[in-house]
Amino acid sequence: MDLSITIAGVKFPSCFMNASGALCMTREELLALGRSRSGAIVTKSMTVEPRSGNPEPRYYGFPGGSINSMGLPNLGYRAYAELIPELKQFGKPVIASIAGLCEDDFLTMARVINQARPDLIEVNLSCPNIPGKPQIAYDPVDSERLLKRVRPLITVPMGVKLPPYFDPAHHAVMAEVIAHCQVDYLNLINSVGNGLVIDPTRETPVIKPKGGFGGLGGALIKPVALANVRAFWKLLGGRIPIIGTGGVVQGLDAYEHVLCGASAVQVGTVLVEEGVGVFERLERELAAELKTRGLRSLEESRGKLKEL
Ligand code: FUM
Repeated sequence: MDLSITIAGVKFPSCFMNASGALCMTREELLALGRSRSGAIVTKSMTVEPRSGNPEPRYYGFPGGSINSMGLPNLGYRAYAELIPELKQFGKPVIASIAGLCEDDFLTMARVINQARPDLIEVNLSCPNIPGKPQIAYDPVDSERLLKRVRPLITVPMGVKLPPYFDPAHHAVMAEVIAHCQVDYLNLINSVGNGLVIDPTRETPVIKPKGGFGGLGGALIKPVALANVRAFWKLLGGRIPIIGTGGVVQGLDAYEHVLCGASAVQVGTVLVEEGVGVFERLERELAAELKTRGLRSLEESRGKLKEL
């Protein structure tokens, strides 16, 4: 079964790829993604300076999902700029994710990363885990100003990673912003920010940063992810491709994202839990789903959710 897809003119050998943040910070992890069946190599969201991130424990997996407050640990954008040519040798798209700590950081990184020629650049406006830094994409005015400044500096396709929204009014406002900023694709959604998971035996949070508050991922966030994919797909008339991220644990989850309008899907929690072998399993499961339904490609189902 052909599970290849195209986003903004870039061909991906598979619709499954890693979510930024999952096993993609170091050179070794990125090379392992290159050797795996991941349809792309997505970097950890980079900042201007290298960061060690928040204090540990900062990731916790539990039945049904995960919580993390990594705090953007990464090698710094200069290191990723140097790595990009090596990563491109795997012959699959390289997506460079940038996450500034202030607006000008995005511009600094966009200039240099664009020169390194990744296949796509993803502007991450939705990290929930930096103490004192609200998620940019919850402010439509700031988001639009930032995207309009960064867009002219990026000559490869530019995507935007958004947080989950929980009200149709917020979907509508952000869809307007996206429609005005020459965005080539959307990545929906980042983790559901500022959840709290506690250990009732020890009577403590399970992670240390921010008093235990962190981004939720995995199966439990699938309904939120699907709703955001569906809302933006409809508001943007299917004109901007969407990568669906959130709750993809099995092939059928990916199919649900496609029904809502996604072109591809990313995996975070399940990749951390299972390792890079997960891509082969997901491909097998999704191919079986399509075969059962008598489908030959994902294209036939994209956005075709039958509303009641
Ligand atoms: O904490 C983190 O590094 C998370 C980043 C993100 O969700 O974008």
